[in-house]
Amino acid sequence: MKVKHNTSLKSFNTFGIDVNARTFIKAASLKDLKDALKQNYSEDLFILGGGSNMLLTRDINATVLHIDIKGKEVLEVSEDHVLIRVNAGENWHDVVLWTLENNWGGFENLSLIPGNIGTTPIQNIGAYGVEIKDNLVSVKAIDIQTLEEVEFNNEDCEFGYRDSVFKNKYKGKYIITSVNFRLTTKNHKLSTNYGAIQEVFKQKGVSNPSVKDISNAVIEIRQQKLPDPKILGNSGSFFKNPVVSIEKLTELQRIHPEIPFYKISEKEVKIPAGWLIESVGLKGYREGDAGVHKNQALVLVNYGAATGHEILSLSKKVQKKILKHFQIELQPEVNIF
Ligand code: EPU
Repeated sequence: MKVKHNTSLKSFNTFGIDVNARTFIKAASLKDLKDALKQNYSEDLFILGGGSNMLLTRDINATVLHIDIKGKEVLEVSEDHVLIRVNAGENWHDVVLWTLENNWGGFENLSLIPGNIGTTPIQNIGAYGVEIKDNLVSVKAIDIQTLEEVEFNNEDCEFGYRDSVFKNKYKGKYIITSVNFRLTTKNHKLSTNYGAIQEVFKQKGVSNPSVKDISNAVIEIRQQKLPDPKILGNSGSFFKNPVVSIEKLTELQRIHPEIPFYKISEKEVKIPAGWLIESVGLKGYREGDAGVHKNQALVLVNYGAATGHEILSLSKKVQKKILKHFQIELQPEVNIF
C-alpha cells in the first residue's frame, strides 16, 4: 500500500485538473483496501477509480483512496455464454479489447469509453444503444464502515439512464471491488441500429458485421467526435440528455422542426443536449482554457491550464443559456467535487 501526502491529482482525472490530495493511498489488492479502510476509518474518504467522470474544483482535504485492483478471469463457460469476473482497477477499454480477442459479444458498442471497471456500474455507462446493465450479472463491493464483502445482483443495482443505486441510496457506503459479466460466445445479439454505425458499414461495404466490425465502427465514430482525454482534458458528456414531455417536444418543434429526439416512453422523449448547446451557438466556444468541444457540444474540455472552477462556471453559463432559450434545465452528468 503506497501512501503519499499533498500530492497532485492531475494525472488521476481525465479533465487534467491540477488539485492536491491531502493524503493519497493506492490500493492494489483487496488486502490493501481493507488495511487502508481499517487505518483511516475515522477519516474523510474520497474514492477514486479511473477519474474519468469527475470535475475537481478544489483541493481534496481528505484521504483519497485510489482503487487499483487488477485482474480478470473466466469463471464459467456454457453452451453459448461465458461468465467473467473483472477487478475494479482494470481499464474498461483494455477489457473490451480482451473480450473481442476472444470473439465474445456484448461490449463492442461500448468500445473506447474512458474509465475503470469499478466505476462502470455506478454510472451505468452506455453508448450506441447498449448499456453496461445489459451484460452485468453482479457487483462485489466492500462496506466502508463494516468491511463486510457484499454482492449485488443486476436488479439490486437499480440501473437507470447513467444512474444506479450507487449514486443514490448507497452513495458513499460501498467500494466496488469486482464486477461479473455474462457475454455471448456465439449467436451474438448485435445492436447496429444507431445511424452513425450504419453509415460506417455502408461506407466500408460491411453487410454481415462481426462484433469486431462493430467495435471498429464505434472506435472510428468516437475518434471523430470525441476528444481523446490524453490529448485534450475532458470527462465525456458533461450533461445528461434531458428528458421532456411529448407536449414540450411539440412546442419546441413549432420553432425547430428539425430537433432530434429519442422516444423513451409514450409520454416522454430524450433530447440530445449537444444539439441544444450547438443551437444556442456555444459549440466551440472558449473562455481561457475552458471550452465547449468543437465536434461534440456535449463535451466540455480543458485546453491545458483551466481550473475546475473555470470549467464549472462555463458549464453554468451553458445551463443558463439553454434555460433561457428552451426553458430546459440541463443536469450535469459528471460528478462535481
Ligand atoms: N448533436 C448536435 N450537435 C452536437 C452534438 C450532437 O447537433 O454538438 C446531435 C447529433 O447530430 C445527433 C444527436 O445530437 O443528432 C446525438 O448525438 P450523439 O450521437 O453524439 O450522441 P449524444 O446523445 O450527444 C450520447 C451519450 C454519449 C454516447 C452517445 C452515443 C449521454 C449524455 N451521452 O451522446 O456518451 O457516446 O450518446 O451513444 O447520454 C458519455 O456519457 O460520456 C458519452 C460520450
